[in-house]
Amino acid sequence: METMEENRMKKSIRDYETVALDDENSAVVIIDQTKLPGTTQIISLRTGEEIWEAIYLLKVRGAPAIGVTAAFGIYLLAKQTEADDFETFYQEFRRQKEYLDSARPTAVNLSWALNRMEQVCLANQEKTVKEIKALLKEEAVRIKEEDIQVCKAIGENGLSLVKPGDGILTHCNAGQLAACKYGTATAPIYLGEERGYHFRVFADETRPLLQGARLTAYELFSSGVDVTLICDNMSGMVMKNGWVNAVFVGCDRVAANGDTANKIGTSVVAAVAKRYHVPFYICAPTSTIDMNTPTGAEITIEQRPAHEVTDMWYQEPMAPEGVKVFNPAFDVTDHDLIAGIVTEYGVAREPYTESLQEIFRKKQDAMKKQEKQGKSRV
Ligand code: MRU
Repeated sequence: METMEENRMKKSIRDYETVALDDENSAVVIIDQTKLPGTTQIISLRTGEEIWEAIYLLKVRGAPAIGVTAAFGIYLLAKQTEADDFETFYQEFRRQKEYLDSARPTAVNLSWALNRMEQVCLANQEKTVKEIKALLKEEAVRIKEEDIQVCKAIGENGLSLVKPGDGILTHCNAGQLAACKYGTATAPIYLGEERGYHFRVFADETRPLLQGARLTAYELFSSGVDVTLICDNMSGMVMKNGWVNAVFVGCDRVAANGDTANKIGTSVVAAVAKRYHVPFYICAPTSTIDMNTPTGAEITIEQRPAHEVTDMWYQEPMAPEGVKVFNPAFDVTDHDLIAGIVTEYGVAREPYTESLQEIFRKKQDAMKKQEKQGKSRV
């Protein structure tokens, strides 16, 4: 365990892997994000219960990172299965899959990654269980590797929307700690930094769990980015002052019409941005776009315990005991407040029902091309 001071002397938080597979010791290895920024504690998750709890308690969080954790997790759980016939193996796989999927409901990446893993089982039923286990490992590793490429592409596409010296506001943490490298909303910032853009970033603290203060401000600050931490109720002022040229946020699920669920408070930022004519962009890997959900109204919003609002992070309760508390973890930003959805295949604009379909057509074409290239190499 390292203190913040020791950690700063050694390396940036971005030198650590958010999620890694330790196959030899059958563990998913993560940074316990509930301890940041004070302590960098790397923990190993071995059982289904440990993986479920780490996701539920936000030790690992952020849509892409949850997906990668679930993929490694289900592989390790499948690896431990003793069954040697497909039916028994698959039944056990399904049970573990449903259990992990129940940890958090809003981020679609959790079920997206688990479904991808399930497809590996279903498409290889004729193979031995040992062979299926090896293929599951390959798929989980691929999900992580793809995440890195996808975030980089989102960074490039996002960077085309801003110019050197711009002010950028972000909410919650859609940074490297929420993905595997670069993050989504922070990807244009990190790529811009590498190219001398010198952005001025405003990070909303993000009540009640302070992902903006504890994670985004920490990540950006330790990477040398010019970042200013603000309370959630200050975004109106900084935008009115003309200090913000663009808002970049992440997302947990984008519906087919562009309505987007992201950390609670995002919709307020979007409304304020509209008021002050600041373009509000969602940075979305296609893994977070759920074309099976028609509109934001169909997105399940996770409700979290009251003590996160009243007690957590405080030395003593900051609200009267027994007071009613409403604590949704996410809200939905209506698509008409969104200037663009920045994906790895380009920027989708209104009308999203059409532009998002076009993004998926481009994805399919790219995958077909890749497949062809792979085959011609064999
Ligand atoms: O509750 P959290 O911390 O998991 O919420 C995270 C967010 O809302 C992020 O903005 C979102 O998952 C995108 S991460 C690239």
